[in-house]
Amino acid sequence: MKELVLVLDFDVKYREQAARMVRDLNVYAEILPGNAPAERITALNPIGIITAGEPTPGAPFADLYIPVMSGVDMTKEALEAFLFTVCRAKGQYNLQDYIDSQVAQIRETVGGERVLLALSGGVDSSVCAALLSKAIPGQLTCVFVDHGFMRLHESDDIEAIFSTHDLDFVRVNAAERFVGKIAGITDPEQKRKIIGEEFIRVFEEEAKKLGRIPFLAQGTIYPDIVESGGVHGETIKSHHNVGGLPENLDFEQLVEPLAGLFKNEVRKIGLMLGLPPALVHRQPFPGPGLAVRVMGEVTFGKLDVLRKADAIVREELDRLDTPPSQYFAVLTDTFSVGVKDGVRTYDPVLAIRAVSTQDFMTASCFDIPHELLVKLAARIAGEVDGVSRVVYDISSKPPGTVEWQ
Ligand code: XMP
Repeated sequence: MKELVLVLDFDVKYREQAARMVRDLNVYAEILPGNAPAERITALNPIGIITAGEPTPGAPFADLYIPVMSGVDMTKEALEAFLFTVCRAKGQYNLQDYIDSQVAQIRETVGGERVLLALSGGVDSSVCAALLSKAIPGQLTCVFVDHGFMRLHESDDIEAIFSTHDLDFVRVNAAERFVGKIAGITDPEQKRKIIGEEFIRVFEEEAKKLGRIPFLAQGTIYPDIVESGGVHGETIKSHHNVGGLPENLDFEQLVEPLAGLFKNEVRKIGLMLGLPPALVHRQPFPGPGLAVRVMGEVTFGKLDVLRKADAIVREELDRLDTPPSQYFAVLTDTFSVGVKDGVRTYDPVLAIRAVSTQDFMTASCFDIPHELLVKLAARIAGEVDGVSRVVYDISSKPPGTVEWQ
């Protein structure tokens, strides 16, 4: 019988952190709603319960004779004492077992059929691809849509990495199509909407070309399920993860082999499966990519300027011992006068964004050392044509979001 600790959710602030702390001590933890019926709890036979938040009097778990600890401001030492002394946990949960059991399960589910995965190059879909190619070599097709809003060399890097795995990698070069679709659009929400819809259309077209593929794989992870209400007994929307892939795509079944894992565990598995560390530790990157980092109208020219400046920002900040959680460049639609090689210029202002955060729900401005800021400004204005000056965004979230639009 698998050793399980239940985290009962009375406050969203604590539930994921509590479950992650338990798993980091090699004990498997799952999250259930605070009002889960006693029968649902006993059916899982947990060795202990952690209350994330303040339980309401009369909560169903109270009379079950299962050891209980409060997960509010829990220290690692207190949790260790609870798990190993009070609950007598053996602490045998580990990610190699997770990989092995998923590989077996994927093989059983998929049999000899083919599986399709929409690969974005982000951490989750990349690790999903690596795990599937280990489980069912030769049966996986990954479709990567290059919408033209990727960072410098990013699409080629993704192609190079996945061409070495035992899978069919289909790269769709659709930059002209996407940039054309949002030509003249300045409203950020409209850009996002158009790009999202076009993505679906491109993916559908590619899926059709490939013939009948019964399985669709998604890199859904455990927080996606917890956050979409999955542990609260409601139906999980079947396609909530893949940038809104349509419900009517002709797939018989979903394969979601990362659905039991937290993000830090997904990264660890990625490394165990041999993915390069740079890919596994990638920063979050919005689905519409650089299209939401070019303020106002998006053109090939502006994308090119932003790509070069962004590469400099990342190259310099990558070198820090403890880099920010997320860092990038934004090309504004404000123009300013400058002077380059004795000639007057009138080009856009470029902004640097760098934040520290635990969960991206709130974030603080990262303290880039002053000399490095000066170096960044000099390199960008010197090396990138089409930027007049460089500013540093010192807003926290809230009130400023991480992205500018
Ligand atoms: P904001 O700007 O809302 O961003 O503070 C929080 C985090 O979410 C990322 N982000 C996105 N990710 N599609 C995504 O997959 C999007 O449209 C999107 N918009 C923002 C952002 O980069 C940050 O990490």
